Amino acid sequence: MSGEPIPPGSLPLAARAPGKCILFGEHAVVHGRPELVLAIDLPVQVGVQSAVRSSLNRDFEATERHPYFRAALKQLWADGPPIEVRVQSRVPRAAGLGSSAAFSAALAATLSSARGGISRAGLAERAFAVERAAQGVGSPGDTAASVAGGYVSLNGPGGEVLSEYTDGNQSWTARRVHDPSWSWVVAYSGLPRSTADAVRAVGERLKRSDGPELLDRFARVAESGIRAVVAEDREAVGTLLDENQLLLAEVGVSHPQLEKLLRAARPTILGGKLTGAGAGGSVVVLPLPGRELDAARRMARAGGLPFVVRPESEGASLVARPVEPAAPTDE
Ligand code: PMV
Repeated sequence: MSGEPIPPGSLPLAARAPGKCILFGEHAVVHGRPELVLAIDLPVQVGVQSAVRSSLNRDFEATERHPYFRAALKQLWADGPPIEVRVQSRVPRAAGLGSSAAFSAALAATLSSARGGISRAGLAERAFAVERAAQGVGSPGDTAASVAGGYVSLNGPGGEVLSEYTDGNQSWTARRVHDPSWSWVVAYSGLPRSTADAVRAVGERLKRSDGPELLDRFARVAESGIRAVVAEDREAVGTLLDENQLLLAEVGVSHPQLEKLLRAARPTILGGKLTGAGAGGSVVVLPLPGRELDAARRMARAGGLPFVVRPESEGASLVARPVEPAAPTDE
């Protein structure tokens, strides 16, 4: 287990954590298969201070309205005094780009610091516990990447072990994966969706007789994809992204708007796929070298909200300056 621990501190505290995109293996990871997740340079920042009544961005009903806030208070702040939490986010919400994981990781970092500090592996476990309690289903991939930063594999090839999880009969090991130093482009379709609904729908689809074979195909593509990233083989990664997209379409989580974005970017990319739960949400593409902005422009013209993203190597961490009061957002 590695990474700088979160040191002890006292309120007020502020922390930041990166959003993420999934490069290979979403959905199959819920069933224990390999996944590759990348922490991206779109952060969520939270500031926490003591208060008379708990609130989130001045919403005093947030413990009822906001499942992640409620879960964080229950899991990490049981019997704690009321707190005021402010959030600033550069990650579009419900877009498959990890806003909830980053929120959970950043809030867990502040609350764990206030409770005496924690190891990085412990923080990864806590951030996942918050997501899991709020969402009811899912894997620790998103929170593992948001806590560790950089490229992270689950149950796949990789180096150093970052964190480990067991949940019922499923277990996951998060490992560090080499960063080939590429830029990626993600684009939000503008269609929000529920991760939990998509995970449940895919779970049903995988109960059919060809489910195990489909999961094997997901696993082969993700393993090859991780190896191709480590080998810095851009062409192979592009081809495998396309293959992963076909599998995701086969299990029913693609969407015409996502296909439209991928088609629009095609002349400027080596490959691409939906990223996250799908059924809306976002796509990620690997641009031809130097064509990042062209890919972004094409997807914007097709109705997407694109971001050229780089890996964020720093995972969830305390920041010195509390955040300024923010306009209310949902996270
Ligand atoms: O919807 P997102 O971006 O949080 O991605 C979910 C990824 C899934 O594999 C579908 C679920 C999970 O928790 O791993």
